[in-house]
Amino acid sequence: MAESDKDLEGNDALWGGRFEEHPDEATQRFGASLPVDRRMWKQDIKASQAHARMLGAQGVLDGADVDAIVAGLDAVGETIAAGTFAWNIDDEDIHMSVESQLTRDIGEAGGRLHTGRSRNDQVATDTRLYMKDRTIDLVAGVIGLQGALMNVADAHFGVVMPGYTHMQRAQPVLFSHHMMAYFWMLSRDFKRLVAAYDAADASPLGSAALAGTTYPLDRQASAADMGFSGVIANSMDAVSDRDFLLDLDYACSVCMIHLSRMCEELILWSTGEFGFITLSDAYSTGSSIMPQKKNPDFAELVRGKTGRVVGDLVQLLMTMKSLPLAYNKDMQEDKEGVFDAVDTLEACLACVSGMVSTMRVNADRMRAAAEGGFMAATDLADYLVGKGIPFRKAHEIVGELVLACEKQGRTLQSLTAAELAAHCPEFGSDATNAVDIDKIVARRTTEGGTGHEAVKAQMEQGRSALAGEAAWLSSKE
Ligand code: ARG
Repeated sequence: MAESDKDLEGNDALWGGRFEEHPDEATQRFGASLPVDRRMWKQDIKASQAHARMLGAQGVLDGADVDAIVAGLDAVGETIAAGTFAWNIDDEDIHMSVESQLTRDIGEAGGRLHTGRSRNDQVATDTRLYMKDRTIDLVAGVIGLQGALMNVADAHFGVVMPGYTHMQRAQPVLFSHHMMAYFWMLSRDFKRLVAAYDAADASPLGSAALAGTTYPLDRQASAADMGFSGVIANSMDAVSDRDFLLDLDYACSVCMIHLSRMCEELILWSTGEFGFITLSDAYSTGSSIMPQKKNPDFAELVRGKTGRVVGDLVQLLMTMKSLPLAYNKDMQEDKEGVFDAVDTLEACLACVSGMVSTMRVNADRMRAAAEGGFMAATDLADYLVGKGIPFRKAHEIVGELVLACEKQGRTLQSLTAAELAAHCPEFGSDATNAVDIDKIVARRTTEGGTGHEAVKAQMEQGRSALAGEAAWLSSKE
């Protein structure tokens, strides 16, 4: 052994053979992804076991080595699960941590595991497996919130509130209808998450560094062993595709946008000015200085975290932009953001579900607001159209009536039939029906409209959509 080679003793990097100098310690730490990717340890072990079993079946490894590797990896997994695993930053990433511990534990057989594979296909495989699992968690969260919205829509069926455009009272709607609008947004989130799941559901393993390998690997077998639906067709694409993470980041971002919109309304509705809902104490905070305060902190926090998740999407888009084929170290930056996105969305879904399930719905305040905004004006004009008055003229007549009421501080509902007739003789004794808030709602019978019957039908549709989503979930769990 040459004198200089002695220095290499102790350099236990897995590529130590090629190198003459020790790695710079600070730079090694800079290049390490272990603190971020070690959460994928279960997937790393699963993928390594599948690889070893496949190598055994193909006659590349003998049965004794395969058994030693599979059992050894189980043992490594047990120490990680128990929290007794000795993490060492010199290992750089989860793949090296697991493999080097395995080799310390079982000796030479451990050194055979890496036959015909590369960390490039390993990291792509682990990340896909991990994201499939996490997407299932997110789908469960989405379904949970949809269930909460459905329950609230059910429990308060018949409650009327103002519907808004431009944040101005427009037409009365059922509170259930409003809740169901969020339900359907989440149904689309479900579809986006499933699309992200499907994008992740193909195996890159066996692509090795980029070009495939000379060993007789059976990619289909290892893919099936890991529960993938198939294999990725092109080895270069397999190691450098991160679209599945972009899809997931996008699905998370859109879902966060939906939660932020919902939270914005919960915040607004829980103000003294609105008073439509009262958030449970369990989902509110107080003020350290103002004794009267009850703040919707958590709804605000969900709204605030939306920016982070959208940022995670933009970060990954920028990381991937212009990267040449195949693997580049830039791609190590793929995980931190998407981990943050899924963690954040999962926590937000749980928080908003709790908030929605426990809030008090103040039906009286909603009704008062619904009667206060002249929202019957459209129906009153339609009534006159029914009496043969052209819509433009009817619009003008009702506009004048609204102006008069506004000046006198009255609502349209407070007008008697005689007062209506005095304003315009075409108003008959049944004109008060036109301004009745419940009847206004009930008349909106269009499919998807706010009429009681239409909303009931919509909720039925929602229930079967939810059952379909739950079936998807149980097929994956
Ligand atoms: N830690 C790396 C990552 O997360 C694993 C793949 C590294 N491959 C390589 N040739 N440096 O992307």
